[in-house]
Amino acid sequence: MVIKDIESKLIITKFAMHGYNVHPSAIEILKEFRDELDDLIPKICRAVDGSFILTSDDILPILNEIRIKKKRDVEMRSVSLNGSALDVTPKESICVLKDVTGVSACEGNVDDFVAYFNSRFEKLSRILRQRFNSVSISNVKKIKSDNVEVIGMVKDVRETQNGNVLVELEDNTDSIRFIATGKLKDTALELMGDEVIGVTGVLRGNNIIADRIVFPDVPLNGNKKKKDFSIVFISDTHFGSKEFLEKEWDVFVKWLNFEVGNEKMVEVAESVRYVVLAGDVVDGVGVYPNQDKDLAILDVYGQYEEAARQIEKIPKRIKVIVAPGNHDAVRQAEPQPALPKEFANLFSNNVMNVGNPSLLNLDGLKLLIYHGRSLDDVVTKIPRLSYSKPQEAMVELLKRRHLAPMYGGRSPIAPEKEDYLVIDEIPDILHGGHVHTYGTTFYRGVFVVNSSTWQAQTEFQKKVNLNPMPCNVAVYTPGGEVVRLKFYGG
Ligand SMILES: [Fe+2]
Repeated sequence: MVIKDIESKLIITKFAMHGYNVHPSAIEILKEFRDELDDLIPKICRAVDGSFILTSDDILPILNEIRIKKKRDVEMRSVSLNGSALDVTPKESICVLKDVTGVSACEGNVDDFVAYFNSRFEKLSRILRQRFNSVSISNVKKIKSDNVEVIGMVKDVRETQNGNVLVELEDNTDSIRFIATGKLKDTALELMGDEVIGVTGVLRGNNIIADRIVFPDVPLNGNKKKKDFSIVFISDTHFGSKEFLEKEWDVFVKWLNFEVGNEKMVEVAESVRYVVLAGDVVDGVGVYPNQDKDLAILDVYGQYEEAARQIEKIPKRIKVIVAPGNHDAVRQAEPQPALPKEFANLFSNNVMNVGNPSLLNLDGLKLLIYHGRSLDDVVTKIPRLSYSKPQEAMVELLKRRHLAPMYGGRSPIAPEKEDYLVIDEIPDILHGGHVHTYGTTFYRGVFVVNSSTWQAQTEFQKKVNLNPMPCNVAVYTPGGEVVRLKFYGG
């Protein structure tokens, strides 16, 4: 192709000054960034990896990275620049470490599913390999050594006629079955389809007689991080529902405004720098049959206007971090992006919208927010768990290092090329909601919190026997201790 126009020549010259040639396919893309070229070209040249002639394939991923970083910087600035907040909490900084917002690349085709499962297996097997000398399943069959260690994705779990449990595992080379007997049967029966585990045992014929099942898990870490601020955890506000508990909510925001509470409570309120809302901001529309009978506000835009009005009552010195849930107006499949602009723009500057899940760094504390839809699958699969102790189900997610370990259950998953639901970085805090009950625990140094709801029991919940525990709030205090507050309508 002959390059004729001046704009193209200008781009070629600018790259040549950095020692690079640039292909016409890349030039066409760069023309769309004509006002930013002086800033972009040095960044692209610093980021390229070995290519001498830069094509569109070379520059597109770099442009994407620059765009994500820029978006995050803008979000962080929008949080930091709120005038009154800056005066009160000058040190606050929020950094988004992981979030699908703005970078979703899945179209739902076969290639996407293959890439998604490869990513899930690679990430989790990498964690297990730190503790395992495993070989691929095809090699286990070839070597025929007695003692074996394998890592695989759970394909099938069933009980045999003689009361043992037979589990089929697969990796990208082959599949193999292992048999769990004795006490190991209970662990095997709790395995979920498509989770990744390690197994040790003895090879007998084509099966492994297992002696240990190993989860990726989080390492032991007993150190609580001490900070000079508190974080308040809430979720499932369901603004727009007839059952939204406005009187109780008003007492909650009065507490944050130092208008109610004893001296100790006011002291806690003074230390609050963040309020985190883990999804189901609004009740939504058409989420379950005949939902309109439970709605005070029938249109979703009106529900977000109400959400903005209610969250506005939280003092501006506090940063409010909002993630969506399955009732919100974003795609249902996880990972979910942050609320779209038409709704996000309704909120004040001290509100930051992030995706579900999101890993954030709040002044040195790593916070993983996950709404918690997969808890339905976990509680259903493991009979010893219940909705009344949601923290125990959340611990199972940490053990499996995956926020939605069961594929194909009640929690739909979008096949992104990277599995955003793997817990690859260990958080200091795992915050969830969804089940409308309250529970906290520390698991291997990770603070686990499920932060109940602001919605009383709906008719639908009565029918499905869901007993909410509304208006409970967990506060993670500067010393790493947890305070539970329950708000009653005044
Ligand atoms: Fe909810």
